[in-house]
Amino acid sequence: MAIIGNPKYAARIERHLAKYETKRSAVMPLLYIAQEEYGWVNSEGIGEVAQLLNLDPTQVKSIAGFYTMYSEKPKGKYWLQVCTDLPCALQGADVFHAWLKDELGVAEGGTTDDGLFTVEHVMCLAACDKAPMLQCNFRYVEELDQNKMRQLLAKWRSEANGRG
Ligand code: FES
Repeated sequence: MAIIGNPKYAARIERHLAKYETKRSAVMPLLYIAQEEYGWVNSEGIGEVAQLLNLDPTQVKSIAGFYTMYSEKPKGKYWLQVCTDLPCALQGADVFHAWLKDELGVAEGGTTDDGLFTVEHVMCLAACDKAPMLQCNFRYVEELDQNKMRQLLAKWRSEANGRG
């Protein structure tokens, strides 16, 4: 497993490197590729991105650590990021977020024992009128309630077990 020399990513990496006048500007799309390959932004991925951009790995790590779309630890197959920012909280998102953690038996940022779900809260995702909402692996799921969420969890479990 690697992103450098991996035919799966070669064209994308070349495209990103060619797109920007300054090579280092490609750091964010390349971090996405590293996260896609490893499931999170680990030291191997950071090292490879640094190598591709002629940067120090600590510079790449500091960028990855700043943004919530990069995970600095292993996460579940379904990465559930619930917006609990004020406009959503006023529509019940914080209560929903607390319920979801209870439902899955995880603490903030935790992953279920089966490795399927990671739950964490994030700031505004610009869908404030659709609260409670979350993004699952960066895809928005909106206007949630407990029933809808239970159905989604069942569907994702089923998909993960090859029955979806
Ligand atoms: S406050 Fe939740 S999407 Fe904006």
